[in-house]
Amino acid sequence: MRILALESSCDESAVAVYDDSAGLLAHEIYSQIDLHRVYGGVVPELASRDHVRRLLPLVRTALADAKTRPDQIDGVAYTAGPGLIGALLTGAALGGSLAYAWGVAAVAAHHLEGHLLAPLLEPVPPPFPHLALLVSGGHTMLIDVAAPGQYVVLGETRDDAAGEAFDKSAKLLGLPYPGGPELARLAALGNAARFTFPRPMVDRAGLEFSFSGLKTAVSLAVRDQTAAGTLDEATRNDIAAGVQAAIVDTLAVKTMRALEETGYGALVVGGGVGANRLLRERLAKEAARRGTKVFYPRIEFCTDNAAMIAVAGMARLKSGVHETAAIRARATWSLTELGPLAVPANS
Ligand code: KG4
Ligand code: ZN
Repeated sequence: MRILALESSCDESAVAVYDDSAGLLAHEIYSQIDLHRVYGGVVPELASRDHVRRLLPLVRTALADAKTRPDQIDGVAYTAGPGLIGALLTGAALGGSLAYAWGVAAVAAHHLEGHLLAPLLEPVPPPFPHLALLVSGGHTMLIDVAAPGQYVVLGETRDDAAGEAFDKSAKLLGLPYPGGPELARLAALGNAARFTFPRPMVDRAGLEFSFSGLKTAVSLAVRDQTAAGTLDEATRNDIAAGVQAAIVDTLAVKTMRALEETGYGALVVGGGVGANRLLRERLAKEAARRGTKVFYPRIEFCTDNAAMIAVAGMARLKSGVHETAAIRARATWSLTELGPLAVPANS
């Protein structure tokens, strides 16, 4: 079976072609970062309009790269949620229309299931069951993945997501959007011990996160340093290092606690913040200590992409989940509403 997949839940327009025996045949991505940078964040209406412009040309390129004709496509998967509703609707409308025109199934894929199943694209996929740490711009979750499609959320953030904490702190430091990778770049040059930022919830039992206090602490530090005339390059690097250390510390402590509680020997890390080098080093070190193996998607599939939607869509298609003419888009959609998958996701 071969599917075409579309991702348009936020600010990346992406298209992939995936074959269940040959694997990933093509993947295209157009990032809208330049469009949103002047506004310091994603402007939903601009995102939707740009998806409308970009998606169809990306479909043509992906099909050409995959040497695939439309009559060789058995289904079209599109991200139906969660995400920005207008942006989701562009991919849903195109995906639903292509499926209708080609007379094949349309699959309303779950964005977070895509992030969770992305490591199945790698040569050494994770075993099931496993624990998943999903850390993106919109989500911070620890998930018990008993089997593909069986998700129990063990803990999530009460306020800001980890990526949001990176991005908001970066903005306070005057870094361009999206701030996460920029902040990480500065942090690598800084001294993490100079500023100690809060690690909320770490001392409390449970697996919940809270990152909203961090941006207040960072804004106070920036204000104080500015007032003292000492917000120079070295100080900004040190603040960045302190922020990164606080976020990574919090994520690592709770993840290890969840591994302890579940007793699982495998950890999957997904979502954009999974690209963070310090987080990877810290999790690798602590997981090795307790004999746990850590699995990641390749770096380019940590952030939003259509290859992960293709994998999730294929798994759902093979489980018999598909739409005919309906176009589905949901801004909020809990992972726990998904039914179990009837077949292994990468079979
Ligand atoms: O998964 P993703 O592409 O989009 C969402 O579904 O949200 O994640 C984007 C988030 C942004 O907040 C971005 O700043 C963050 O991931 N991010 C990073 C790094 N690369 C991306 N945060 C810290 N360090 C990085 N290297
Ligand atoms: Zn995402």
